[in-house]
Amino acid sequence: MNNFVYHNPTKVLFGKGTISKIGAEIKEFNAKKVLMLYGMKSIFKNGVYKEVMESLNSNGVEVIEKGGIKANPILSFVEDAIEICKNENIDSILAVGGGSVIDTAKAVAAGALYEANIWDAFEGKAALNKSLPIFTVLTLSATASEMNAFAVITNEKENKKWAFTAGIDSYPKVTIIDPSIQTSLPKEQTVYGAVDTLSHVFELYFDGTENTNLVDEFAEGIIRTVMKNTKILLNDPSNYDARAELCWSATNALNGVIGSGRNYGDWATHTLEHSISAFYDVAHGAGLAVMFPAWMKYVYKDNPSKFAQLAENVFGIKEGTELEKAEMGIEKVSQFFKEIGAPTTLNDFGITADEIEKLTENAAIRLPLGRRKKLMKDDIREIYKLAVKV
Ligand code: NZQ
Ligand code: ZN
Repeated sequence: MNNFVYHNPTKVLFGKGTISKIGAEIKEFNAKKVLMLYGMKSIFKNGVYKEVMESLNSNGVEVIEKGGIKANPILSFVEDAIEICKNENIDSILAVGGGSVIDTAKAVAAGALYEANIWDAFEGKAALNKSLPIFTVLTLSATASEMNAFAVITNEKENKKWAFTAGIDSYPKVTIIDPSIQTSLPKEQTVYGAVDTLSHVFELYFDGTENTNLVDEFAEGIIRTVMKNTKILLNDPSNYDARAELCWSATNALNGVIGSGRNYGDWATHTLEHSISAFYDVAHGAGLAVMFPAWMKYVYKDNPSKFAQLAENVFGIKEGTELEKAEMGIEKVSQFFKEIGAPTTLNDFGITADEIEKLTENAAIRLPLGRRKKLMKDDIREIYKLAVKV
């Protein structure tokens, strides 16, 4: 196990009826004027907007709102919201939505205290460490952005979907997770959330660190929990207990716990996916369902033992050599994605072999990718090729 610092300052209020507490939580931080950010329309349909507004109003929190954040959020929206913060003396940001809204909030909160363009931080030209306080009401469990310090934004002019953090300030101060409001999710968003959660576990589990017994057990527990409860929800979307299990699994997959003592995760597959969603605007989890099996098939032979461990501990595969068990485990992951209705090839997004070069160039801007196996341009191209095959 590697040395590590674990410091996650986000306070989480979890469960039914917790949304009405957001106003009082924000008031405790002496927030005077909040910029509330949200997506397109879901919070108006499921009553979340009304509940949040009532809570802010009854606690005397002044609020300015800006909706319209799209899935795969874009830089121009972030820039506009930063202008509002600077012109209106905003002192806190409230995100009401999924990962796209929360990531936007993180970029806006840091950009409000930065004199130049926030994209500098994504390019690594500026190391930011200050941000306005961020609060979140989560409506879609997938990214764990509600309890981590990362934000992923697309620079739509340059087709770069990249991440940044302003360090400890980028963690939300308070996050509210009420699983019951996620019953309004379309089936495919529940599926993509499950795939994203599993992918975060895989990025960490397969990063090549040795002697990570405890966090491997946590990771395997999350995988089993997600698989079991996703299947329950596909038949019974309003099953509260299954929804709650999925929500807390998603948060714990990327809030630092199962990453502790490891090599910070592999993250090659996420970069490969971000290039896909930068060009084709597909849902992040949908892209991962295609790219993770492709990455696994490309890398497992070099060191199959961790893949064999997954096969044994998660799928109960006890027979065969290490290599055979690894192969069967990867097949089980693919089967699960298929079973829950996730896409299986890039063709499902209308992406053909002709487009592999464009994706390869985009994903290879900053090399190498990954930690378990350091991928160069030729490796990236081969993985995309695996992903277009049926
Ligand atoms: O815009 P509205 O109308 O709200 O609809 C949203 C959106 O269309 C809808 N939705 C959200 N909550 C709902 C709901 N619909 C009905 N009922 C509800 N309760 O769901 C759609 C997708 O929302 P989005 O926020 O885009 O999804 P997600 O949470 O999966 O976030 C994906 C974004 O996060 C990034 C991804 O790359 C992608 O851009 N990621 C962020 C990470 C992080 N910050 O740590 C890590 C991840 O690996 C990921 O890269
Ligand atoms: Zn992800």
